[in-house]
Amino acid sequence: MKTIIAPSVLSADFAHLGRDVEMLHKSEAQWIHIDVMDGVFVPNISFGFPILQAIRKHTTKFCDVHLMIVQPEKYLKQFKEAGADHITLHFEGNWHLDSIIREIKSLGMSAGVALNPGTPVEVLKEVLPLLDVVLIMSVNPGFGGQKFIPYTIRKIKECKALIASTNASTKIQVDGGVGLANAKEIVEAGADILVAGNAVFGSENPTETISNLMKL
Ligand code: DX5
Ligand code: ZN
Repeated sequence: MKTIIAPSVLSADFAHLGRDVEMLHKSEAQWIHIDVMDGVFVPNISFGFPILQAIRKHTTKFCDVHLMIVQPEKYLKQFKEAGADHITLHFEGNWHLDSIIREIKSLGMSAGVALNPGTPVEVLKEVLPLLDVVLIMSVNPGFGGQKFIPYTIRKIKECKALIASTNASTKIQVDGGVGLANAKEIVEAGADILVAGNAVFGSENPTETISNLMKL
């Protein structure tokens, strides 16, 4: 399978959001990664529904919404209506994982669960067959531009093995500190989808960086 690149708009220029989303729309990136933070689940506040709606107006690409919020079950329908194609929520703090995954799917979206660096992959064993995506966080969530945590490479491999052992077709997404320097190693470890914020928007030519990430 071809690696999916999901540039994160968290690193875009919000005063020129339309321009940046149109750049992503014209690029080779297949997904657009949208980081929603509430200042409670993570120590940062990003944006919510109005920004997602605005992004949706500028692209038909797959909108991958990463929720770093408490009580995500309250807002699933609103995210769908604002334009989400996919929702990933965090294992940490969600007691009713099975029911929330089913709810996301019943709303017509695909579903992912994210694991913070300190959370082992085994916790997802039971729900793996229900999941479209496991998101391995390779930084502690909350901010773009952080350094990739090396031991998460091992977690990607463990996750790959766990998926194989359950016969699930779940994809592995990796988020945080991903760029041209480490993308190859991450894909070789088993990643199917790469999120890249700073590596794309902090580069001289974001469109070219996306193509280069795909080539790796
Ligand atoms: C971090 C977010 C990431 C972030 C990645 O909490 O989940 O999606 O935007 O940014 P980079 O690629 O700059 O580490
Ligand atoms: Zn993210």
